[in-house]
This record gives sequence, structure tokens and C-alpha cells, in this order.
Amino acid sequence: MSMRSFRQVASKSRRPFPLPAALIVLSILLLSGGPTGTVLAQDPPVPRPVIIDTDPGTDDAMAILLALNSPELDVKAFTVVPGNVTAGQALINTLGLVTLAGRCDIPVAAGAQRPLAQKLITAEFVHGEDGMGNIELPSPACDVDGRFGPDLIIEMVHAMPGEITLIPIGPLTNIALAVLKDPSIVPLVKEVVVMGGSITEGNVTAVAEANIYNDPEAAQVVFHAGWKVTMVGLDVTHRTNFGAAHLERLSATSGRQNDFAKLVMRFLIDLSAQFGADGTPMHDPLALGVAIDPSFVDTRHMRVDVETRGEFTRGMTVGNRYNAVEHNEERDGRLVMTGIDRVEPNVHVAVEVDAERFLSFFIERLAGR
Ligand code: BDR
Ligand code: CA
Repeated sequence: MSMRSFRQVASKSRRPFPLPAALIVLSILLLSGGPTGTVLAQDPPVPRPVIIDTDPGTDDAMAILLALNSPELDVKAFTVVPGNVTAGQALINTLGLVTLAGRCDIPVAAGAQRPLAQKLITAEFVHGEDGMGNIELPSPACDVDGRFGPDLIIEMVHAMPGEITLIPIGPLTNIALAVLKDPSIVPLVKEVVVMGGSITEGNVTAVAEANIYNDPEAAQVVFHAGWKVTMVGLDVTHRTNFGAAHLERLSATSGRQNDFAKLVMRFLIDLSAQFGADGTPMHDPLALGVAIDPSFVDTRHMRVDVETRGEFTRGMTVGNRYNAVEHNEERDGRLVMTGIDRVEPNVHVAVEVDAERFLSFFIERLAGR
């Protein structure tokens, strides 16, 4: 109950409280969250601190604008990783997006220049030569933060123990480097919400998703660090299909960010059409959506390992739905199954999504911005 509605209730009562009694009741109501014990309906959400690690990238751009227009999140920093484009281009794009949103107050830090153990793979074919679908962003008016991305993550996590959610929406190189350099951050991070992986399909190979395929060793470090990981992968992002009808709704409003988003979404829809698809998946925006409101997806807690060696399966996220493996023992030169070993689940895998609710949410958040 707000102060105003409390006053309305009080003024309607036949025998008004004497002033000191009214003040005591008011303080009790405020402390208890209202007469029914519910949270005050009018209060804005307390924003949750997050760091977004990104490789913009068209869908990264949409995710970043969603984050910057969502009062539930307090974006503490962007750290930049190569993936969709080179590290240099991704940094320019992140600065341009922060400029577009008028948020030069948020630090943007460069990070790794290449994956931990393989050659950098970029995807201008999908994201346009500049990574933004060749749609012009304002020239960056914000400065680069001088810190190395993984160091900035370490510093901020220590400064806000237990509070920060990490949201990597590119290859996991920077997050892995932060953990490898300072494992003491693991219990201090609130949660890691990853866009990446899949337990059912791939988009680079038959079984590997791009963010994991582009740095499998880093992904294996991050998935097994010991913190809470939620994996928002192709199992759900491929069901968030943004099509012509959604674009029409986004185009009904305007504003600098709204208009930029409209052009990027049109680029992505046109690109998908070239491959016979009717609409485009909202990979990175959905990960942000889940960080804002976890009820957009249902998850299953399971053991996930990243394949780092397979001939056909490098970069695959191997999900063990039963959290169990066969136990074998050596007897007479053969292996005999003697039971089942439990394996510890380490990842909350998103398996179902309320896609239309999420797509409407995305459109509403950017409308008129
Ligand atoms: C992921 O790969 C990149 O192309 C997108 O930005 C997204 O993060 C989807 O597989
Ligand atoms: Ca991305």
C-alpha cells in the first residue's frame, strides 16, 4: 500500500486514528509490506546488478538494448569478447550501442582477443561486415574503460559479493579467464546466465552451438566452475521466432533505439528468408529475458559437459538428462556392468519457453525508446 492509498483508507474510516497511533500503524504496514503482507504494489523493482559479456553481433545488439531498457537490471559493465566479429569491431559496436542508448556512464572494457585454445572464428556472413547488419550506429561517444575485461569482472564481483549476475552472450573466453585467474570469485557470483549450447541440436555443426563451438575449452571451465549456471540454448531460442507480424508491431512506434532495432530485425528476418525460414530466432535477447524474468523458461537441472575432442562433436554440450552413468568393472578381460553411478548436475538447462510472451515483452520494452 502506498502512502497515498494509506491516506485514502485512513481518511475514509469513521473514527480516524489519533496521529501518533496512525504513525505507528503506518510504520508497521510499511515494514510488513502492507496490511495483507504483500509487497507494495507501486514500488519499482530493485534493479539487480549484472555484467554483460558480449560479441555484438546483431542479436547481441537487441539484447543490449533490452537490458538497457529494463528497470529490473542495473548493468554494471559490458565486457567484450570476439566471436561474431573481431574483438576490435565488437568493441566499436558495444560503444556505439551504449552511445545510442545514452549510457556512457556504463563501463565498456575490452577483453580476450582470441579463444583459449583454437583459432578465432567470426561470422560476418550472418551479422554483416560490421556485425550490425550494416546498419549505421552513432559513432562511439563513450570512452573505453582501461581495465582488461576479465579483471573488471573479478574486481566488480569482489566489490559486490553475492550480488552480481554474469550474462555471457558470446563465446565464454572472458568468463573462463576470470575464473582461471581468480577462482575465489565463484562463490561470490550470484548466477551465470549463458546464451549458448543445446541438448538437442546445433547451428554450427549438427550438434554444436556457435558460442560454445567458438571456445569449447572456455565453456567447459565455466560450466564446471561450481556456480549456478543457467543455459539458455538453441533448445529454447530456436522457438522464439521473431517474424513479420512482430516487426510490424515494433515498427508502429518510434524512437532512436526503437528505429535501430526495427532495422536490425528487418535485416535478420530478410537473412532468414534467404534460407527459407519465416522469422529469426532471438538468441541473445532471450538470455537477457531470462535474467530479467526466469519464468520465461522452464529448466531441468542436469550434468552438462562440453565435448572438446570429438571428431564430429567438438563444441557439443552433452546433457545427461538422468544424471546417471553405467558403472562397469573389469572381470576376465572384459567390462561388466555392475550398477549405476550418479553424476552431479551442474547446469540448469532451459527446455521450454513461453515464446510469444517473451516476444511481446521485447517489443514493449523497446517501444518508443
Ligand atoms: C549465438 O551465436 C551468435 O551468432 C549470436 O550472437 C548468439 O550469441 C547463437 O548461436
Ligand atoms: Ca552473441
